[in-house]
Amino acid sequence: MAQLNSNYLKLKTGYLFPEIGRRVKAFCDANPDAAKRLIRCGIGDVTEPLPLAVREAMHRAIDEMGTREGFHGYGPEQGYEFLRHAIAENDYRAKGLEVADDEVFVSDGSKCDCGNILDIFGDGNRIAVTDPVYPVYVDTNVMAGHTGEADESSRYGGLVYLDCTAENGFVPELPGEPVDLIYLCYPNNPTGATATRAQLEKWVAYALDHDAVILFDAAYEAYIQDADVPHSIYEIPGARKCAIEFRSFSKNGGFTGTRCAFTIVPKELECRTDTGGKKPLHPLWNRRFSTKFNGVSYVTQRGAEALYSKEGKAQVAALVELYMGNAALLCAAAMECGLAVYGGKNAPYIWVRGPQGYTSWEMFDKVLAEANVVITPGSGFGLAGEGYFRISAFNSRTNVEEVARRFKALSW
Ligand code: MLT
Repeated sequence: MAQLNSNYLKLKTGYLFPEIGRRVKAFCDANPDAAKRLIRCGIGDVTEPLPLAVREAMHRAIDEMGTREGFHGYGPEQGYEFLRHAIAENDYRAKGLEVADDEVFVSDGSKCDCGNILDIFGDGNRIAVTDPVYPVYVDTNVMAGHTGEADESSRYGGLVYLDCTAENGFVPELPGEPVDLIYLCYPNNPTGATATRAQLEKWVAYALDHDAVILFDAAYEAYIQDADVPHSIYEIPGARKCAIEFRSFSKNGGFTGTRCAFTIVPKELECRTDTGGKKPLHPLWNRRFSTKFNGVSYVTQRGAEALYSKEGKAQVAALVELYMGNAALLCAAAMECGLAVYGGKNAPYIWVRGPQGYTSWEMFDKVLAEANVVITPGSGFGLAGEGYFRISAFNSRTNVEEVARRFKALSW
């Protein structure tokens, strides 16, 4: 009989967002009137239409595809040159950061990239994740067999958990034991916290000292408002030798359904081989792309490229402004309830400390039942998230104003 990957059997519950979806569906089935008023502020999914510049570029691209001369079959697996160039030029070189076009790998999403990247790392690495954490980092390591079983608090044996608390501003201290792979996400999902330059310098110094690799998820960088908050790990000297960066068009360009993202793998970044030598990761990731991926569609990449046009940049800025305005309203509403509120200043997520005596799932149930609003329970992001909940600012202004009203009417 064929054997399954028993690592999957270690996974604790369903993936967080499908689990929320399941509970919301059960609630809606049982309460059809409440279902009609339901507002979703759970999953961080954008709500506003695709920017005009993107739509126009995609229309042009589809028309090209309808001609013999303009038809595109398989493209370069790593992304078309026009998009790799636009990314490297606009997101990095224009800001004084060294990233070559061929260090950009265009993909169908950062979630996929964060999981797929494990293909090019060995099995013996000691892995550090923050707690709370974007669950993909943990679950993909479980699936790859890099962990032991989960304990009763859902923490997996073999992973090093770095607590992110209100006291440390949701930026972890360096680990007390050596680690090889470190997942950092700033602006942070779920807490909305940012890491300062000094904090990232500390992590880069650690990684260089320990020959560790930082997997830096910058999916929310477009939401940074404060001038001194780093947008890229490569703003920190030395990071090209120790960090991979993930970025996405999902949250800035509204591509959650369109699917396009990218990963930067600098050519200087090297890791140890089984025989004790060192080799660069770039050719391995390149090889993985050529073997396991056939690239993002031409039409989608033309759409993504348009985000870097003058019009595209202005339209992205307008989207960010809308969602950050939403974040301000939601922060204010949660504060009016007398709750401690974090994030929401440089990120589209508001991280709320609930009243004493409620677990995260109890708060989820209460807000769903009494306000008919879907939030995300903090404990779904890890043990250190217990007692918190996350509100996503991705919604229409009308819905957010209504959520704010309903929040203020809740009695805790
Ligand atoms: C979230 O809600 O945390 C995000 O939607 C995660 C994601 O982008 O996959």
